[in-house]
Formats: sequence, C-alpha cells, structure tokens
Amino acid sequence: MTCPHAVAGSVRTYPFGDRVDLGLDPAYAELRATEPVVRVAMPYGGEAWLLTRHADIKKATTDPRLSMHAAADRDVPRAAARALDSVGLMGMPAADHARLRRLVSRAFTARRVAALRPRIAEITHSLVDDLVAGGGPADLVEKLALPLPTAVICEMLGIPHADRHIFRTFTEALMSASRYTEEQVGKAAEEYADYLRGYVAQRRARPEDDLLSALIEAHDEGEQLSENELLMLTGGMLIGGHETTAGQLASHVLVLLEDRTRYERLCAHPELVPRAVEELLRVVPLWSSVGPSRVATEDVKIGGVTVRAGEAVVYSLASANRDEDVFTDATDVLLDRETNPHIAFGQGPHYCPGAPLARAELQTALEALTGRLPGLRLAVPADELTWHREMLVRSLVTLPVTW
Ligand code: HEM
Repeated sequence: MTCPHAVAGSVRTYPFGDRVDLGLDPAYAELRATEPVVRVAMPYGGEAWLLTRHADIKKATTDPRLSMHAAADRDVPRAAARALDSVGLMGMPAADHARLRRLVSRAFTARRVAALRPRIAEITHSLVDDLVAGGGPADLVEKLALPLPTAVICEMLGIPHADRHIFRTFTEALMSASRYTEEQVGKAAEEYADYLRGYVAQRRARPEDDLLSALIEAHDEGEQLSENELLMLTGGMLIGGHETTAGQLASHVLVLLEDRTRYERLCAHPELVPRAVEELLRVVPLWSSVGPSRVATEDVKIGGVTVRAGEAVVYSLASANRDEDVFTDATDVLLDRETNPHIAFGQGPHYCPGAPLARAELQTALEALTGRLPGLRLAVPADELTWHREMLVRSLVTLPVTW
C-alpha cells in the first residue's frame, strides 16, 4: 500500500489526517519503512524534521545537541499555536533544567510513590463507591479518570481539590494546540501564575506538610528556586499531574472494553495489571500529533539525515511505540507482553518525572475497576464516542459505561 502523503524527498503537510481517537494515520508505518526522517510543514512556524522510528527517537531525545531550550521563545516550527517559553521547565537552559529536575524528581521517587499508594487506593475506592451509588450508565471520565489524578496531585501539592474548576479552565487553554490563539494562551498563562501566587503567599505565611511548602522552603533557605521557578514548577505539576493521566486512564479503559475479552482477562488475572498498564501506555497515543519541538544547536546526523544547526526536530512517540523493529505484533494489544521498551514517558533529560505516580494511579484504577465491577461495559458503541479536538493531548470528552 502506498501512503497518500509519501512522496519521497518532498515536504509533507503535518499532521497527517485528522485522527483524534486512538488510531494512527497509516503514513507513520509507511514512513518508518521508507523515509523515517522526513521533512514536514508544521501547523505553526514552518518546516521541521519528523522522526518516526523508535531507535532514532531514543537517540534524538537523549542528544543534548537537540535542545528544547533552543526552541523556546521563538517562532519555531511546532504543533501548538503558542511556542514553549523559557519560563517553563521544558524550555529552560540545560543547567537550570537539571537543577529543577532534581527537586521535582525527589517528590516522585518510586519509594515516595509507593508510600502514597494506600492513599491513592483510598481515593480510587471512594470514587468507585460514588460511581456505584449513582448507578449506571455513568461517565467514567467525570467519575474516575479526571477526579482521581486531580485529587492526588492537589493533595500532594496542597492545592484544594475544590479549585479544580478554576484550574481546569487554565489547563484547557494551556494544553490547546489550536483551540485558542497564541494571545489567549498567553493571557491564560498569566492568570494561572496569579492564581498560583495566592497559594504560594499563603504557604509562605503558614507552611504545611505538602509539596508546595517543601518547594518554598527549598527556595527560601537554599536560594534554589526563584519566585518564577516556584510558580512554574507548581503550575507544571498541577497540570502535567492530572491532564495526561486522566486522558490515558479513560483511553485505557476504552481499549479494554472495546474488546471485552481483554477486560475479562484482567478480572480473572489481576496480577497482569502492571504489565497491562505498560501495554496500554504503549498503544494509547499521548499527543494528538507531536509534543514540544527541539532545535539542533549544531549539525546532527539522525537516521542517515543531517539535521543542520538551527533546524527543528519533532517526533512521534506513538509511531515509535508501534515500531515493528522493536515490538513483535506491534499493532496487537498483548496485555501480558513480556518485553515492552515503550517510550510513552519520553527519554533522556526530559523523561517524565511523574511516571511513577502515573503508573501507580493507572494500576490502582484498573485493579479497582476489574476487582469491583466485572460487568463493566461501554454504554454506547465505541464509534459514537466524542474526542477532544484541537488539543495537544488526545482524550475522550466522556466515556459512558454501565455494569
Ligand atoms: C500517563 C501519564 C503521563 C504521560 C503519558 C506523560 C508523558 C510525558 C512525556 C512523553 C514527557 C516528555 C516530553 C518530551 O520529552 O517531549 C513528559 C514530561 C513531563 N511530565 Fe509527564 N506524563 C504523564 C504524567 C505526568 C504526571 C503525573 C506528572 C506530574 C506529577 C507529569 C509531569 C511532567 C513534567 C513536569 C514533564 C516535563 C519534564 C522536563 O521537561 O524535564 N507527567 N511527560
């Protein structure tokens, strides 16, 4: 089959097609086989190199010469209207980024997250109690997928869960690809910082046993965090900590219910849940198209192509995670896949610091659902589900289920 977008050596318009569900345009498989490093015209800022193979993406994401900082504050070729800025963690100079990463990573070590598990389970079960008490059909996004990671990250940071309606509005703007203009997103970012400033001031006056107070202490005592860094880290964790996991959780349940033999298998074999979560992370794309762009700080050779200094590089994690050279039966969902080197959380210096937390939440939710609701099923046909459009992350608007 020849891909309609694939004319070797030409510039293709990106993104391919307009898929917002869990599918991937066939162009990715074609490009992996024929032209894995390809020139694309991005929706904003001009042309970039798109990488589609697992090996090239792993190499590129760990290569310091491909820099997010060099892509910040510029009209760089990109997927979203608003470019990364150097105030955000991702866009910081490498040395500042590494310093802040150490602080963030300390909050999410495997040991700390293991200690949080009982609380995550408590929140999950109380949400499932409410779901059951309300009766089916019910929307699993509203009842579990969104409130679980939101409640957990709010509790960790010390931001009231009751504020969720306020920061959801900011999240929607800041995670927009094209739903809002660059100016609208910029305005939302300023308002979000003002909102967070209020909590920082409160905790400064009355420290509590939460992450926000710990970050303030790191700032006040060690001169480690500037006011802006504090706001940016808190804001990044609040949004990063719930939006991505919520989208993934609803989609994971959808993949299990679309073919109920998968769900039934987990009900019968709960010990498979950790492996199943890895497989679901592999097959459920995070980004609608690609994540943040990198810019080459010097000439870099990738997949036989020389990316010149100053050129932009983007990559598809979803394509990497379906690379037939790495995954046998790459398009199948194998809940007990033994070797699963997916890169759903990225790689290298920007590897997701929240991965242990996200894994704990996803596993706990699937254990609770399969343990308590073995009859769970979709309340509408899968092809009638609605997906968010024009956003950076793929996610369901609602997931109606019954049991
Ligand atoms: C299933 C859920 C999640 C997925 C699939 C995910 C995925 C990712 C990916 C792919 C990146 C790297 C982007 C790149 O290199 O281009 C990333 C970065 C990041 N994630 Fe996550 N994430 C998830 C949950 C979380 C959670 C729960 C938190 C916070 C509690 C979080 C906070 C962050 C932050 C702060 C970064 C930026 C890291 C940096 O630039 O050094 N994420 N995430």
